[in-house]
Amino acid sequence: MGDLDVFPIGLGAMTLTQVMGYDEQRGIRTVHAALDAGVTLIDTADVYGPAGGYGVNELAVMKALALYPGSTDHVIVSTKGGHIRLPDNTWWIDGRPEHLRRACEDSLRRLGFDALPLYFHHRPDPQIPYADSMGAMRDLYDAGLIQRAGISNANPERIRLARDILGDALVAVQNEFSPRFRSSEPEIELCAELGIAFSSWSPLGGMREAKGLGSAHGEFHAVAEARGVSPQRVALAWQLQKSPVVIPIPGASRPESVLDSVESVGFELSAEEFDRLEASPFAG
Ligand SMILES: NC(=O)c1ccc[n+]([C@@H]2O[C@H](COP(=O)([O-])OP(=O)(O)OC[C@H]3O[C@@H](n4cnc5c(N)ncnc54)[C@H](OP(=O)(O)O)[C@@H]3O)[C@@H](O)[C@H]2O)c1
Repeated sequence: MGDLDVFPIGLGAMTLTQVMGYDEQRGIRTVHAALDAGVTLIDTADVYGPAGGYGVNELAVMKALALYPGSTDHVIVSTKGGHIRLPDNTWWIDGRPEHLRRACEDSLRRLGFDALPLYFHHRPDPQIPYADSMGAMRDLYDAGLIQRAGISNANPERIRLARDILGDALVAVQNEFSPRFRSSEPEIELCAELGIAFSSWSPLGGMREAKGLGSAHGEFHAVAEARGVSPQRVALAWQLQKSPVVIPIPGASRPESVLDSVESVGFELSAEEFDRLEASPFAG
């Protein structure tokens, strides 16, 4: 897993700006709380933000980092390209090599790095052969525009293809995984086999579902109650315990959420608790 194995948990930054009525000061406090608590990976994308257009979330993250009183040299900001956001706020996909090149250069300009620390291909484009998009990612790496490559929303076949094309430059796969969405198990196993990170997106079920995690998933509620912690912390601890390659990236728009979530690192579930959570029923 290379140098990514030192980041057990990251901050998913989409929630910072996606929630209605984005409060910049609260967003900055949230990022600072994450950094104070030891988070060293912040995940964003060119298309994250409350409306159409690009770079809202990337710029918000960078502003918060710039205002942090301590050093942020050790912090990895991962961003993504491959989606487009139309002026009417519709999301679309563009996996053409020329789009990925332009998107990468735009993110570089916004983030102000010489090379992006970790750049994800956001989502396969059904109109474009995956090998072509991966070839474009390889070109970005060879040109020194990105230091590490990741892919997102990829099945095992695509992960293997990406690995063939990107080689050791491929360090992470970012797929959905949570108590309610578990069909990424084969990808987690493959990442473990290949020695690359599996970054679970919407690890609490997504912005709309996260708060109700305990009521939707009885075993998570039961374990949380017995241990006197939040069901969200239990859900993250369960993912961390599943495999050493799993790095959840819970989103947050409040410092309180971050502070609770980081406590999942080192929060050990017993084998019996873990097995109960594994076997608990899930919807979807
Ligand atoms: N690659 C992709 O295609 C893709 C797709 C979706 C998301 N992502 C990534 O995944 C990240 C996370 O996903 P997400 O934001 O959709 O869903 P999520 O992490 O499952 O849920 C986010 C929500 O969880 C709440 N929360 C976080 N920690 C909590 C805690 N300890 N206790 C109670 N509530 C807590 C937050 O509340 P507050 O707002 O109140 O803090 C926020 O509303 C995104 O930010 C993004 O970086 C990637």
